Amino acid sequence: MRNSPIGVFDSGVGGLSVLHALRELLPNEDIIYVADQAFTPYGKRSKSEIQKRSAAISEWLIEQGCKLIVVACNTATTNAIAQLRESFQVPFVGIEPAIKPAALGSKTGVVGVLATEGTLSSELFQTTAQDHAKDIEVVSQIGHGLVALVESGNATSLEAEMQLQNDLAPMLEKPIDHLVLGCTHYPFLRETLQRILPKNVTIVDCSDAVAKQTHRLLKQHLLLQNSTGNTSYHSTTTPNKTLWQLFGVTDVTQINI
Ligand code: DGL
Repeated sequence: MRNSPIGVFDSGVGGLSVLHALRELLPNEDIIYVADQAFTPYGKRSKSEIQKRSAAISEWLIEQGCKLIVVACNTATTNAIAQLRESFQVPFVGIEPAIKPAALGSKTGVVGVLATEGTLSSELFQTTAQDHAKDIEVVSQIGHGLVALVESGNATSLEAEMQLQNDLAPMLEKPIDHLVLGCTHYPFLRETLQRILPKNVTIVDCSDAVAKQTHRLLKQHLLLQNSTGNTSYHSTTTPNKTLWQLFGVTDVTQINI
């Protein structure tokens, strides 16, 4: 079992931000990455659709022998991780908007969260935000079309800058000093975000925390591997080679799930 791969999935290339953190910390693990690009974006889908897709992909990853699954998507985690843990026996690691570290680091007492509609409307997010509401003000904002911009290779375009400017305008009227990236696609917008955000705003991305939690769980279950660290990439639609190459990936296989 310890020589089995880790499964990682997202609605698209966003989860590659988590994969990069996993690779840094776990260079000797084999990883199978699935991008559910036939169903991207998840952010506008219903909870039951997100649950169905997450279950179908997890089932496929388990069929490939995965020993642990990283849900590299905030929308899938906040809408489906409880049901995944009930349905399957492998351990799951999820990703949620990192409000806690932002709240702890905030001096102004106001933090921003940029995420998909699916994440912001989920019960899990609402509960987490309320837990912190006693100490700080959480200003949340839906990212409109940002996932599509990343999926089309336009993360650093003028269009992305204008869209971010629109989305962030209301929260920038408040004294936020942290911006939590609540979607794994958004770290790829960092360069564009930095052009817009005031210098005192810290960008919070919790990919490293996900990698640490994955390491902890593998250790706890005696599942740490010592291989050459292969990564294979799969998409649920015909892979757009130009897009994947932008992310440094040259070999992507189409799978039908
Ligand atoms: N990257 C995902 C997330 O973290 C999903 C975005 C989407 O497909 O809308 O929320």
